[in-house]
Amino acid sequence: MKRQELIQKYIEFFKSKGHKEIKNSSLIPENDPTVLFTTAGMHPLVPFLLGQPHPQGKRLVNVQRCIRTGDIEEVGNTTHHTFFEMLGNWSLGDYFKKEAIEMSFEFLTKTLKISKEKLAVTVFIGDQDAPKDKEAASIWQELGISKDRIAFLPKEDNWWGPAGNTGPCGPDTEMFYWRSEKPAPKKFNPKDKNWVEIWNDVLMQYTKTSEAKYIEAKQKNIDTGMGVERMLTVVNGKDDNYLTEIWHPIIKKIETISKKQYKGNEKAMRIIADHIKASVFIIADGITPSNKEQGYILRRLIRRAVNYGRELEIKNFTNKIIEPIFEIYEDYSQLKKNKEKILEELKKEEEKFDQTIEKGFSIFNKLTKDKKEMECKDAFLLYQSYGFPEELIEEECKKRKIKFSKESFDKECKIHQELSRTAGAGVFKSGLADHSEETTRLHTAAHLLLQALKIVLKDNSIIQKGSNITSERLRLDFSFPRKLEEFEIKEVEDLVNKQIHLECEVIREEMSPQEAKKKGASGIFDEKYGDIVSVYTIGKFSKEICTGPHVRNTKELHQFKIIKEESSSSGVRRIKAILE
Ligand code: ALA
Repeated sequence: MKRQELIQKYIEFFKSKGHKEIKNSSLIPENDPTVLFTTAGMHPLVPFLLGQPHPQGKRLVNVQRCIRTGDIEEVGNTTHHTFFEMLGNWSLGDYFKKEAIEMSFEFLTKTLKISKEKLAVTVFIGDQDAPKDKEAASIWQELGISKDRIAFLPKEDNWWGPAGNTGPCGPDTEMFYWRSEKPAPKKFNPKDKNWVEIWNDVLMQYTKTSEAKYIEAKQKNIDTGMGVERMLTVVNGKDDNYLTEIWHPIIKKIETISKKQYKGNEKAMRIIADHIKASVFIIADGITPSNKEQGYILRRLIRRAVNYGRELEIKNFTNKIIEPIFEIYEDYSQLKKNKEKILEELKKEEEKFDQTIEKGFSIFNKLTKDKKEMECKDAFLLYQSYGFPEELIEEECKKRKIKFSKESFDKECKIHQELSRTAGAGVFKSGLADHSEETTRLHTAAHLLLQALKIVLKDNSIIQKGSNITSERLRLDFSFPRKLEEFEIKEVEDLVNKQIHLECEVIREEMSPQEAKKKGASGIFDEKYGDIVSVYTIGKFSKEICTGPHVRNTKELHQFKIIKEESSSSGVRRIKAILE
């Protein structure tokens, strides 16, 4: 079975059960500054999981591109990827456990024709936050999954979410497939690596609060996720994701360029393929390598791939292995559209990194001059500041007969990792689902700001290029070629405040994207919207396509103040503002 066929089968199946297909959103969360990447199909749906009505209804389905960088060290095995596609179906306060499990079972056994003898499931064992999920277990049993094939597991395994620190979450039930040629054992052992997880039904019944309490959610939802990569491997009877049509052509390119076989070089080739595929998608969604946020992750991915290229003795290769990616994912128009840019960014970053490594070598020489041993802190400096991979440090020390303790180096790395993880957690501090009062107010203010800019700068072609909202301030990037004058900033501020003081109502309406466009709503119309979108109208002032969240009346915003106006990138200005 091919990728497109699997995706289509899934979507058609759920459409036949009354689900509407929603768009495959950007990897960069559109209305959520608190996470760097979209990590699951449910991400763009958080406001709706929390109760806001979705314009397309209560039953939704899609395939969503995702990035997960949490277990980057696991990439290199047969089943973990940085970029992957997730098939998902949702019930927003509509069906719950029984129907969700029955639909999953029907899709697996009827549509994909997987024998139930090869299936096993896990359910939540229960703890102080939520009871043992006997109900899910008995639904599975009624469908014919034997008691022996049902494992009860704790929160670490059978609980999903929230995606950030707070928000919708709940116990889940996961489905596993026996991938070995040997007959599946009668009794399910979730630790046996031959059982691979293929699908996760999250029974979203709770909301985690900022005090880390789990409270019963107002609306009970279903959120499911099936990895396209793993499922494709399973339905094609393979035991390595990289042997399927969505990976193998990239591996083959690496084989050709390196004149080496995949067999024996699996780890390096998998990491290169994985990281470069992820990089291609991240660049296509508008990110370039940099030293912060998404740009930093992108930089790390490219550099890590280049490092593994050394193992294969290849150089300047990243932009030479990506052709198959454009063919595999021909349904993603943004890949084709940004092809030149993708090629250029990869090339540029690889060159930059090569220069950095050159520099690193001279530091290496200085640090180890007349020494018999590489000090741990020096090794770490090379690794951290000069991007020297551990293997390279090890190799060079060996060549020069300098002692290097891998063990103490790893220890040092762990300490620093902990530190940076704690620092990195700052990004997620307010949590994905933090649709708090402050962010809601700032979000509405951003709409007013965009419209005020168009009016004051007399430029209707201004479009939003990005937005980032924390509970303290809003940040809006917009297309405009020059610095704003002092008086213009003041006028924009005054105009926004006028709308606040006029106490305008904020009204949400649902309509087709065409109708929204006709009515003059701002939005990015080359983006694939669903059939129906939400349009927010603020008084007589602004009309925008948006997923919310918003206040009901502008009077809730009190007073608006611009605190900074600066350049963001070429042709893009950035404004930071607060509400007082
Ligand atoms: N959101 C759930 C997951 O990512 C379905 O596994």
